[in-house]
Amino acid sequence: MAEKKVTKIGVLTSGGDAPGMNAAIRAVVRTGLYYGLEMFGVMRGYSGMIEDDIVPMNSRSVANIIQRGGTILKTARSAEFFELEGRKKAYENLKKRGIDGLVIIGGDGSFKGAQKFANEFDIPCIGLPGTIDKDIAGSDFTIGFDTAVNTAVEAIDKIRDTADAHDRLFIVEVMGRDAGYIALHSGIATGAENILIPETKTDIEAIIASLTEKEKRKKLVNLVVVAEGDKFGGGNEIGAILKNRLPNADIRVCILGHIQRGGSPSCLDRLIASRMGFASVECLLQGTHNVMVGIMNNKLHYTPLDNAVKAKQKISDDWLRIVKILAS
Ligand code: F6P
Repeated sequence: MAEKKVTKIGVLTSGGDAPGMNAAIRAVVRTGLYYGLEMFGVMRGYSGMIEDDIVPMNSRSVANIIQRGGTILKTARSAEFFELEGRKKAYENLKKRGIDGLVIIGGDGSFKGAQKFANEFDIPCIGLPGTIDKDIAGSDFTIGFDTAVNTAVEAIDKIRDTADAHDRLFIVEVMGRDAGYIALHSGIATGAENILIPETKTDIEAIIASLTEKEKRKKLVNLVVVAEGDKFGGGNEIGAILKNRLPNADIRVCILGHIQRGGSPSCLDRLIASRMGFASVECLLQGTHNVMVGIMNNKLHYTPLDNAVKAKQKISDDWLRIVKILAS
């Protein structure tokens, strides 16, 4: 049977926002227009699909946004879309406009919704990995990760200045949900003395022993970067333990929080968002359906949505060795 040609594409952002989402929206819309398609923006992720908050988009709708953080389409996490009733409503709203292709920019949770929707209804879905957490397999980078890490690095560098001035031990908690990529990358890049991530077992006794040894040789300025999802605990928990076990140390805790999600996207994020957005429309036109578009080894890479939601990126042993050797 001949593939039905896609004529109208809807684009949405879902889950936590990530810098570069606007660049991706721009690429999707402008590529679609280039191919003569009608383009629509779905507001507030799947919520807008269910509540029929869908707007036509032209080239001007996406002007002057490539450099802006956040998402002009707004975003949300929709519980209703995880119910069949919600997905049916969403489908009807797309159908009545003749939207026959969907691009979803979001993370793991957003792809789970897309996967269900694509399996139930005749509207093909393409996912673009948009999350600061980099916790999705099938792409070396996710849109937003590079900017978030650079924000964390800038903040941690500043913290080191004040730590140095006061001879303090700082515990800095970074985001990442269940993944330790932001902590790993920002920790290595700032020369953190300890990096705590959920992917490895945190040996608190070893950390205390090494900080005690440093205290003895008067190395009092130390940075511990901890991923919020570390199984041992976040910044506050680690801070409380260290304060208790190292009574002579001058310890402060800093939770970086949502600052990591905002700001103008880095060049890398703008580039990958533009490439992925462009490729998503070509996928729909060529009949490559229900995949996530990623970039691996600097080449476009397509992962079936089913696999994208199942697999996680694995932290390579090389990275972990670097942490061990350099953070001593
Ligand atoms: O997934 C992106 C992320 O920023 C995580 O790193 C963090 O755990 C979570 O979202 C925070 O979500 P919210 O903005 O809903 O508090």
